[in-house]
Amino acid sequence: MDRVLIFDTTLRDGEQAPGFSMNAGEKLEMARQLARLNVDVIEAGFPISSDEDFEATREVARQVGVLEGAPIICGLSRVGLMDIDRCWEAVKYARRPRIHTFVATSDIHLKYKLRKSRAEVLKAAVEAVKHARAYCGDVEFSPEDASRSDFDYMCDVLEAVIDAGAGTVNIPDTVGYAIPEEWAQRIALIRDRVKNSSKSVISVHCHNDLGQAVANSVAAIRVGARQVECAVNGIGERAGNASLEEIVMALHTRKDFFGVETRVRTEEIFKTSRLLSHITGVHVQPNKAIVGENAFAHEAGIHQDGVLKEKLTYEIMRPQDIGRATNKLVMGKHSGRHALAARLQDLGFELDEGALGKAFKRFKDLADRKKEIFDDDLISIVKDDMAQVPETYSLDYLHSISGTGIIPSATVRLKKEEQVFQDSGVGDGPVDAVLNAIVDGTLVFGKGTSTDVIEASARAYINAVNRLVHPAKGRDVQEVGP
Ligand code: KIV
Ligand code: ZN
Repeated sequence: MDRVLIFDTTLRDGEQAPGFSMNAGEKLEMARQLARLNVDVIEAGFPISSDEDFEATREVARQVGVLEGAPIICGLSRVGLMDIDRCWEAVKYARRPRIHTFVATSDIHLKYKLRKSRAEVLKAAVEAVKHARAYCGDVEFSPEDASRSDFDYMCDVLEAVIDAGAGTVNIPDTVGYAIPEEWAQRIALIRDRVKNSSKSVISVHCHNDLGQAVANSVAAIRVGARQVECAVNGIGERAGNASLEEIVMALHTRKDFFGVETRVRTEEIFKTSRLLSHITGVHVQPNKAIVGENAFAHEAGIHQDGVLKEKLTYEIMRPQDIGRATNKLVMGKHSGRHALAARLQDLGFELDEGALGKAFKRFKDLADRKKEIFDDDLISIVKDDMAQVPETYSLDYLHSISGTGIIPSATVRLKKEEQVFQDSGVGDGPVDAVLNAIVDGTLVFGKGTSTDVIEASARAYINAVNRLVHPAKGRDVQEVGP
């Protein structure tokens, strides 16, 4: 059966979207899970965009890309030769490195963004691919804004870059403008119009501005595209990229229709989705296809009756196909170490004895305060122990008052080694008051957990402050306000 390559861009296009940035440690953790998911290519970053992205891409290449059977590790670069040099420096450690270089080919981009002629862009694209090929046998080229590019000109560029050595040509619907039928026609025509197209894999990269990203991607596969670029939970610029799990499960569930397969281990899908949500702090909507909380939940009486009699009545996929447990053990204060280890293993965490002991203690403390412990609680327990930001400041004491008819106020005491800082604040509500008591002025991403929402907010805030103190681990820092 024909194989479609799954090119994952969660760590590049996904990560560059607001609210989804990840530090090097987080990218590495995600890359390890993507390798377990068995994607074909991990686009780990855009190395010239920042020193941190360079380091993150390099570490993914060094630590994940060197393993036997590891995916191809790819870095993005514009067509500038220095971009390509930097990209190569980051990905070269992988067993199978790839350089992905791109330049826009639409007249809109040429006129307003690049201020270059068609001939100049074509020349730059060819030089870039040749330069990249001098380093690396695996080079991908993308004509940015392909869906709004003049078709003949774009095909001339594709033909020239394939001659220059591009083994993959990726056709991006950069602005999410395409409609499935029209997009499929465009992709099919490339095969006819570009004389040397058989020397290159045709790939697509679809954005979701009109909600068509997955439909466009699978329509392209129907007419011969053999690589799709996608992201876990569909994250990416603006409305996102095509969702990896939706494409993979569409191809898997409707093999009868598509007649193609992927190498993805579908049982790792749910874990991967949850890991990404946990790392970024952004949850998927409950009705999200495949990985949403309700994706396998049946509420209507008629549906429940049908499913109880025979699951096939309303289920086209089994939860276990994506690694979702059906007969989950309820975790609570009577659960033992063994049950915890088994559940954590289901969630993708293999802990050594020491780490398991620590996690079990935190689990028991939490179970004393909370009747049922959910998967997200367990993930928090483990991930808090793996916290990657050194705890310069820690919460020592917190007291807050709120209610109707009084001004919410809070007193907070923080510790930094032997130093103690204490202050009070008032706010619109108790959380606001707590935060005002800590620090103000800068917006940073942070995470904290507690069964008490006010304490969790304080912990998240302090975690954000600690990220600020260690900027190498917190590149999502943005200045807000005057
Ligand atoms: O959307 C886009 O055009 C891209 C390219 C860099 C492939 O992300
Ligand atoms: Zn994109």
